[in-house]
Amino acid sequence: MIKNKYGFFSKDGREFVITDPKTPRPWFNYMWNENYAGLISHTGGGFSYLETPRDNRLTRMRYNCLPWDRPGRYVIVKDSESGKYWSLSWAPTIDKKYDLYECHHGQGYTTIITEKNKIRGEITYFVPTDLNGEIWKVKLTNLSSRKRKIEVYSFTELLMGNALNDIINQPNDKHFTDIHFNKEHETLVCTRRYWVLNRKVTVAQPNIDWRYNLLFTTTLPVSGFDGSLDNFIGRWRSEANPIAVETGKMSNTEITAGDPIAALQSKITLDKKSEIEFAVIMLVVSKDEKNPFKASQLKQLKEIKTIDKKFEAVKKYWDDYLNNVKVSTPDNKFNLMLNVWNQYQAAVTFDMARNSGYYHGGLLFGTGMRDQFQDILGMVIAHPERVRKRLLNALRFQFKDGSTLHNFFKITEWGEKTNHSDTPLWIPFGIVEYLNETADFSILDEVVKFYDEGEATVYEHFKLAVDFAISSCTERGLPKIMNGDWNDTLDHIGPKGKGETVWGAFFLGYILKKTFELLEFKNDFETLERWKAKYEQLRNVINDTCWDGKWYLRAFRDDGSEVGSQKHKQGKIFINAQSWAVISELAPKERENSCLQSGRKYLLTPYGMQIVWPAYREIEDNTGLISRCVPGKKENGAVFNHASSWFVLASILNGDIEFAYDVYSRMIPLNSSKRIDRYEVEPYVYAEYVTSPEHETENQASHSWLTGTAVWMYRIGLDYILGFRTSLKGLTIDPHIPSSWKSIKAERNFRGKRIILSVENPNGKNSGIQSIEINGKSVESNFINPDDYSENELNVRIVLK
Ligand code: GLC
Repeated sequence: MIKNKYGFFSKDGREFVITDPKTPRPWFNYMWNENYAGLISHTGGGFSYLETPRDNRLTRMRYNCLPWDRPGRYVIVKDSESGKYWSLSWAPTIDKKYDLYECHHGQGYTTIITEKNKIRGEITYFVPTDLNGEIWKVKLTNLSSRKRKIEVYSFTELLMGNALNDIINQPNDKHFTDIHFNKEHETLVCTRRYWVLNRKVTVAQPNIDWRYNLLFTTTLPVSGFDGSLDNFIGRWRSEANPIAVETGKMSNTEITAGDPIAALQSKITLDKKSEIEFAVIMLVVSKDEKNPFKASQLKQLKEIKTIDKKFEAVKKYWDDYLNNVKVSTPDNKFNLMLNVWNQYQAAVTFDMARNSGYYHGGLLFGTGMRDQFQDILGMVIAHPERVRKRLLNALRFQFKDGSTLHNFFKITEWGEKTNHSDTPLWIPFGIVEYLNETADFSILDEVVKFYDEGEATVYEHFKLAVDFAISSCTERGLPKIMNGDWNDTLDHIGPKGKGETVWGAFFLGYILKKTFELLEFKNDFETLERWKAKYEQLRNVINDTCWDGKWYLRAFRDDGSEVGSQKHKQGKIFINAQSWAVISELAPKERENSCLQSGRKYLLTPYGMQIVWPAYREIEDNTGLISRCVPGKKENGAVFNHASSWFVLASILNGDIEFAYDVYSRMIPLNSSKRIDRYEVEPYVYAEYVTSPEHETENQASHSWLTGTAVWMYRIGLDYILGFRTSLKGLTIDPHIPSSWKSIKAERNFRGKRIILSVENPNGKNSGIQSIEINGKSVESNFINPDDYSENELNVRIVLK
């Protein structure tokens, strides 16, 4: 059993079960479909939104709140006889002792089980696949041998509209709320009579309506309700001791102004040893609908049978999703990550971007272009059709000169052009990865509008992005860094437009190389020649000007001074300039070896590779925010997992598999979180960074869930360690495994076929193929074009040399 002090993984790995609610931070999960999403902590905390967490937030979560994750979706039960009450999710009544507490975070749902005062509660939160809404399904069991009278209070604090406005203009926001109780359907109908859809913060108030009604109801008969937060909670109280719960009297207030809550009371009687099932339902419907209840539908939804079916559909969705990839190696933790949690986290990043989490509050970022085009790496295996749609949508934020917005917001379609030099280049990255998986070349002919004016085919969008990057180079041919590159905090290196990025040069080279196969396929030889020439020119200028003796420099400032050199006091060596030297194939072999060796010498920590060394201790105005961040955290010298994963990839490409796997393992959250009270965040998903030994809080992690690490660790594991390498023409199988692995099995769907791989490693090697059989026949090459086979399953048997 894989476990820590606060919980364990279920036997099949599909759930992380928290057994002690006093975790060092709230440990979250997600529940969502394409439109409706929510995050949920192990105590019931978290918020929900439709489409976008900034502009269309449904429920509240208070920022900088103590305790951390308030409010949330709560069901408090009260024993009418004794007057004792407690929450079925532990919070907000946290000071009570429970006989049992278990929170099961699974894929797309969270179940919290409690036992207290001889009542067992099981509450499952989920978002159905086909509804703009969420369901809290509850089972209450009377464990005692007497009849019990129980009051049930279900409530959530509402926001309904613009979450940023809710913070900066809260007292004004209160004058537009509207909650009524519909007796016929025993449903609270909640709305707001205006909607702030400003593209950015401004005092101007648009004159528009929040287009929705939020319905809050339960399958139990309702004995009281409240739309007024003040009345439900009472004066000088909190969610932990609402006056309505304490007195048993709901105020039955309908509001036309004031802080909104959706709260319902029901009274039930439970015979000895008996149980009851019910559900709380929250739905968002359009105001335009004549009959928002769609009475028959609501009636059907209020049947437990229907709710159970909806939950089964969620489970099936995730079974199917995870079934796309199955691995079995001698390393259980690797298997657990690839089979379940890493795949799942990749799905979360695909839909949440860096935009809706506990550490990314959903108010600022929207969807990042560079993030989005990387985040497709996970989803493209399971749902290429969703990725296709996403790519076409994201391309609308590109300008006709090939540049792009850095981020964009759904609904308002607004974003910022920040002039980060790398952003446009993630477009070709995403398109090629999509084609590598699907060979769906038809996407290239789709026509997409530019953000400014005009339109062009996807193929043209793709070329414009690359040509924009090529045209954004200095005279000697290195990319200008502009306001930063992948590393957002190297943001004051080239304010005058002359500074150059060395990582960016490798990245441009990598992207160019990645496109050659496609350009050939398109018979676009003019572009191919031009881009090949640029690639070679990059090789020359990089190796002539960017080598520091033992590793590559990171950047040049406007005045030509260097960043990331051994002659500096701080920020001597940056990880990305070393890893991408290898990934881009632009470094000669001896420099590859040398720069990776240097990385290994200066950047390796017990939790992975740190991003830069030594961290900045003195502020450098002409470098940027990196030097203002405390040493050892975030971009200033943390183990920044996204960048660390690229070092793993580089080490594999360089042939040092044992080292690569060692770093990969250190990064697996279960390993880096061995000191969980120090590590603090969820041990089942990657965090953006882990504090390096350069800070006294070494090994503390932060920004869990929403990080590019998720897709890269997933695909490095799948493509490079297990060895399924996709390309336009098909699949090359080329495992790179630790020598101690005697055999592995791995399965993956690819272009409509199931590839079932088994690898034998009798001589304890890392790589190199001795023999290969496909469906029992020995073949010469490890390249598979799935179209050459009529069978739906390809059993590939490989013996390493
Ligand atoms: C954050 C950003 C990402 C950026 C990285 C490094 O993760 O979301 O876009 O590349 O930090 O600065």
